[in-house]
Amino acid sequence: MAIRNVGVVGCGLMGSGIAQVSAQAGFPTVVREVSRELLDKGIGSIRKFLQGGVDKGKVAQADMDQTLANLRGTTELKDLADCDLVIEAASENLGIKQELFGALEKTCKPDALFASNTSSLSITELATFTKRPDRFLGLHFFNPVPLMKLVEVVRTLSTSDETYRAASEWCRAIGKTVVTTGDSTGFVVNRLLVPYMLDAIRVYEQGLASRDDIDNAMKLGCGYPMGPLFLTDYVGLDTTFAIAEIMFGEFKEPRFAPPSLLKRMVLAGRHGRKSGRGFYDWSTNPPS
Ligand code: 3HC
Repeated sequence: MAIRNVGVVGCGLMGSGIAQVSAQAGFPTVVREVSRELLDKGIGSIRKFLQGGVDKGKVAQADMDQTLANLRGTTELKDLADCDLVIEAASENLGIKQELFGALEKTCKPDALFASNTSSLSITELATFTKRPDRFLGLHFFNPVPLMKLVEVVRTLSTSDETYRAASEWCRAIGKTVVTTGDSTGFVVNRLLVPYMLDAIRVYEQGLASRDDIDNAMKLGCGYPMGPLFLTDYVGLDTTFAIAEIMFGEFKEPRFAPPSLLKRMVLAGRHGRKSGRGFYDWSTNPPS
């Protein structure tokens, strides 16, 4: 089972990163967004990241040009018909994913592999929206995708050995390290990371320490590259809230319950970096 042509559905924060690393590793990659406006925004962020790499001397100009040449943006799902691997990176919403996988099932080659980049929904359930549960798995990337080395490869009870091997090989070919996990909400990383981020918000909410002291405590005390409140802004408060709700629904454990401050900040439109304001004000550089 050789993967050559890759399709990515969604060109937001995660989808654009996945499309970039795929194209950068030499795979002809088609990325699909729902509107021309969102597509242009996503491709624009890829271009900006690559240009940043060129400016830092990390990416050769020729590599940037070749990456962009390997990449094709579209608003039509039918343009993914020839893909050997299709990775869905749409919003964390079961209904949207159900509709997408139903349409992809009709559009794509019968032997194409389907993957979801979901961070909390069940891969087994997503596979039921297709007729190929043996060729279906989770490929969970981390933000920022071009810099984070990990992919969680998620096997369901139905994922075939061949699918698992081909997808894992592809992940290695794009320069990632693979960890293998079963299909349980949050897999390994979010199972551990999400309660930590939620606890940091609770500590802040309870007034135990200031925002900067909480973040500095974990950066300087534990050597983490970002403090937990900064990281929540980085991931997105809306995304963190959606993941927490799904995890709480699954496990019914208080440590996964979203704190009321998180809910209120999301309702107030403070989604973090993407909206310009979260725990930090992102209109300044560095965020203040
Ligand atoms: N192109 C190529 N290389 C680049 C680049 C670019 N545009 N921008 C930066 N780099 C390189 C830098 O040159 C540097 O390389 P070096 O280590 O060889 O010097 C490296 O990438 C780091 O870049 P910076 O020095 O500019 O940035 P930082 O040192 O501040 O690191 C970070 C940035 C990697 C984002 C770091 O802060 C980090 O690891 N943060 C934690 C992120 C995290 O936890 N992500 C996971 C979130 S959870 C998730 O995604 C799951 C979801 O389901 C919720």
